[in-house]
Amino acid sequence: MDRKFERLQEIIESHEGRVSHLIAILQEVQEEYRYLPEEVLTYIATAMDISPATVYGVATFYSQFSLVPRGKYIVRVCDGTACHVRGSEPIHEALRESLGLAAGQTTTPDMQFTVETVSCLGACGLAPVVVINGDEVHGQTTKESIVKAVKKIVSQEQQEENKNSSEMGCCQNA
Ligand code: FES
Repeated sequence: MDRKFERLQEIIESHEGRVSHLIAILQEVQEEYRYLPEEVLTYIATAMDISPATVYGVATFYSQFSLVPRGKYIVRVCDGTACHVRGSEPIHEALRESLGLAAGQTTTPDMQFTVETVSCLGACGLAPVVVINGDEVHGQTTKESIVKAVKKIVSQEQQEENKNSSEMGCCQNA
């Protein structure tokens, strides 16, 4: 079996292939691949013996699922009422600008960042709220603070990349 589908099969088996677990299965699969590729949806339908239209229908109904590739870091800017009133829009714009996202683009070409807006994240007391990768919550955000947080990630990634390439250089020279 293609290695790509091996993990997929494991996830389905861990839920005993139950159709009632379809959303949970899709969530885990998306964590694995960062999005839900079409061939993966087809595989799930075949493996669970349900119609591709059912799987596709669930995957497109919930906004948490993405059928297009997304970045390593998913930055969600809350645009619920409390956050909107406290300036989520300029924060969203500043974020997009700092990442060089063109109009209509949500993911950076290097596949590092995806910037999305979401409705109320349930932390209105902290408005405006931005969440990175589901667990890094930034409350009472300002344009400056969120741009700084993203720049920090960019520089961490660069350091990691430099470290990896110098290690590779070291091994190649050995
Ligand atoms: S409106 Fe943003 S957390 Fe509620």
